[in-house]
Amino acid sequence: MSTASHQSDSHYIHGTSPEEQARLSLLNDLLNKACLKEMKLGQEKRILDIGSGLGQFTRLMAKSIQHESFVLGIERDQQQLRQAIDFAHSSKEQELVLFRQGDATQLPLEKAEWGSFDLVHARFVLEHVRQPVEVVQQMAAACRPGGRLVLADDDHDIFRLYPECPGFNELWQAYIRSYDRLGNDPYLGRRLVQLLHDAGMHKIRNTFIFFGDCAGNSTFEAFVDNIIGVVNGARSVIIDHQLLSASFFDQGIAAMHQWKKRKDAALWYAMHWAEAYKPTK
Ligand SMILES: C[S@@+](CC[C@H](N)C(=O)[O-])C[C@H]1O[C@@H](n2cnc3c(N)ncnc32)[C@H](O)[C@@H]1O
Repeated sequence: MSTASHQSDSHYIHGTSPEEQARLSLLNDLLNKACLKEMKLGQEKRILDIGSGLGQFTRLMAKSIQHESFVLGIERDQQQLRQAIDFAHSSKEQELVLFRQGDATQLPLEKAEWGSFDLVHARFVLEHVRQPVEVVQQMAAACRPGGRLVLADDDHDIFRLYPECPGFNELWQAYIRSYDRLGNDPYLGRRLVQLLHDAGMHKIRNTFIFFGDCAGNSTFEAFVDNIIGVVNGARSVIIDHQLLSASFFDQGIAAMHQWKKRKDAALWYAMHWAEAYKPTK
C-alpha cells in the first residue's frame, strides 16, 4: 500500500468508531445490490473507487467484472483501510482489490495510472469534502477517454418519514446544519450532474436509488437504525456548535427508537446517482 503525502482538511462527520463502521457496513448490505444493478457493469477491466470506506462495494464491483481486472480503492482514513483489508481477508477476497491510502483531492496515482481507468466511482464521498469540484476533476483525469464516471451521494433535504416523530425534524435540521458548520455540502446530491458537466464529461444520465422502507418489512429497522446512526454520529458537532441542547438531542434519538416500533411507520430517502462519459477527444 502506498501512502499519500497530501491530506485535505475536510472533516468526515461520521468518524470511524466500531459502531460507525458497523452502521456503514449495514448500509452497504442494504444498498449494494441496487447500486450494482444501476451501474450495469460490462467490459470494464480497470475500476477506481474513491473514498472506498470498508471496501464492500469495491469488492462487489471487482467480483462483477472479468478475471483479469484491476480494482483500486483509495481511502484517506487508516482505520477504514485496516477494516477494509480485514473484511477482504475474512471473505477470502484479498486478491480482488488493491487498497491504497490517499486523498480524493489529490489522488495517489502512479504516472501511468492517470487516464487509464474504465470506471471511476465515488459513493457518499463528495458530501464530505470541501472541494467536490476538485475531486471530480481528479476523477475525470484518472478516467480513460471513453471511460465512465459514476457519482452517488445524498441530498439531505429529501428525507421524509411519517407519522411524525416528536423532535425528529429539529434533529434532522441540526444534522443538516452540522454539514455546513464543517464546510461540507448537505445538499451535494443535487449537484452531481453539474459537477460532471463542469468536469467536461458528456452523455450524462441521472436517477435516484430508492433508499427507504416501511414497517412490516424485514429491513425496516435497519433503515431506521441507519438514520439514527448518522444523526447520533454527529452528536458532538451538533452540541458543540449549539445547534441543539444535549437533552433535546437525546430525547429526539430516544423518540426515534420508539418510532421504529410503530406498525404504521414509513420512511423515504433516495440516493442521487449520476453517470457520464469522458469524451474521446
Ligand atoms: C460514508 S463513507 C462511504 C464509503 C464507501 N464509498 C461506501 O459507499 O460504502 C465515506 C468514506 O470517504 C472517506 N473520505 C472522506 N473524505 C475523504 C477524502 N478527502 N479522501 C479520501 N477518502 C475520504 C471516509 O474516510 C469514508 O471512509
